[in-house]
Amino acid sequence: MQRTPFFYDITLRDGNQSLKKPWNLEEKLFIFDKIASLKVDAIEIGFPASSQLDFDSCKALADRASGDILVSVLARAHKGDIDKALLAIKDAKRARLHTFITFSPFHMKNVLNKTPEEVAKTAIDAVTYAKSEIDKMNKNIDIEFSVEHFGDCGENIDFVVKTLKEITKAGATTINLPNTVERYRPSVFIELVKKVKEALDDNIIISVHNHNDLGMATATTVESFFAGATQLECCLNGLGERAGNTDFNQVAVALYNNKVDLKIDLEKIYETALTISQMSRIKIYEKAPLIGPEALAHRSGIHQDGAIKTKDMDFGAYRPINPALIGRYDDEKIGFTSQSGKTAIYDIIKALKYPITIKESIYLTPYAKKLAESKGELSENEILDLYFNKICNIEGVFEFISFKPIEKGIFDLFFTYKGERKQIIGKGNGPIDACINGLNKLGFNDVKLSYYKQYSLDSDKAGSGANAMSEISMTDEKGNEVIGRAIDTSIVHANVKAIFNALNQLY
Ligand code: KIV
Ligand code: ZN
Repeated sequence: MQRTPFFYDITLRDGNQSLKKPWNLEEKLFIFDKIASLKVDAIEIGFPASSQLDFDSCKALADRASGDILVSVLARAHKGDIDKALLAIKDAKRARLHTFITFSPFHMKNVLNKTPEEVAKTAIDAVTYAKSEIDKMNKNIDIEFSVEHFGDCGENIDFVVKTLKEITKAGATTINLPNTVERYRPSVFIELVKKVKEALDDNIIISVHNHNDLGMATATTVESFFAGATQLECCLNGLGERAGNTDFNQVAVALYNNKVDLKIDLEKIYETALTISQMSRIKIYEKAPLIGPEALAHRSGIHQDGAIKTKDMDFGAYRPINPALIGRYDDEKIGFTSQSGKTAIYDIIKALKYPITIKESIYLTPYAKKLAESKGELSENEILDLYFNKICNIEGVFEFISFKPIEKGIFDLFFTYKGERKQIIGKGNGPIDACINGLNKLGFNDVKLSYYKQYSLDSDKAGSGANAMSEISMTDEKGNEVIGRAIDTSIVHANVKAIFNALNQLY
């Protein structure tokens, strides 16, 4: 049967304790609701013995929590901390006391200055004491025990397992295995997790809590789940001591991608990440997986092509998820640099709601690349300027000079052809017809109008008040079809200029 992960959020405790300005009660209340909206299973709300502020916050949050989400508080493995923690959660509907001590040989010797036997006794005594106090209170409170620096316990894992058996007998129902400092390979940690899982009774919940010192915490946590750990301790945006804790967003999405059943409301991830960044005053770095501003940007031509072709699909050519899964809408970004290609031009111009064909984007690409070589990424406006200047103004053998009405259906057309001045009176059912008739009379009669379209424009972007675009399609005798485009303040002039832009491509 497939297991469902138990998401244990530690943003308000491990995340909070590493902030330059830890959160006050009001802030914690606000963040608690945000975390709860993700539908996590448990929230560690603080460390009551760490300060009066944290005690008061823990008490208020515990009193207020509905019971749908388990609330947990941290305590060192001694009576003073445990009493404070229990006082903070005594009125909660559903709570947990989370106590810890290290079993790492290095830490026991150099920091605690105690023998392993003394540490084991301290741990077992603490859990026994907590259990007897909870029994007296007759409250819905369970006990989690953490082996601080579990990741450093490779050499004394038999001692750890033996002591943990005693600890579960004393009343701990969740055993948390932290990689308090990430030093080694994920697989080294996971082998240790498996040893504990195999040794303890099946009803004991195995939890992992991985710090991200080497940047592998997500991998370690995800693989620990598949190795038998059900509870996953994570922090929103990967907050936490030093390089942080395991990033909640990454773990949730990685499990989702690997077909694990989740209760998490993934669609809230992005919005929550932005809130947490604001509340913690810690920016989401540009390349942060899933939530970074650059995490959905494509700049190489090959990637852009694949990304655009699979844009609306759940499985994207160059992204791990459909961004809508985490509530990121319209955030997939195509940026044009010297590494980019025609598909990017096409997509950017289309997104700006201007007409363009692939042929036109191929024509524009070398100009855009050249500009990007010196400038770096081009802005949308720079690309639009190129479009107006190069596509709507094609240079060639014809140069349009003027087109003036004389009377209804009769126009005076003036242009040059290979530098030679040409002038004619054109007649027709409208300006386009009159212009083409005039050209035919001058001998340019081997091209035909296929269709024409007009668009109104945002004159701010098109410049000089231009607000009309004409699209004229013309075909020569061999069947070659080209599109001429032009913009102007007058649609009549836009039409005629577009005809000349088409002619410059055909002749
Ligand atoms: O990193 C750690 O070991 C901890 C424990 C207190 C669980 O945060
Ligand atoms: Zn920690």
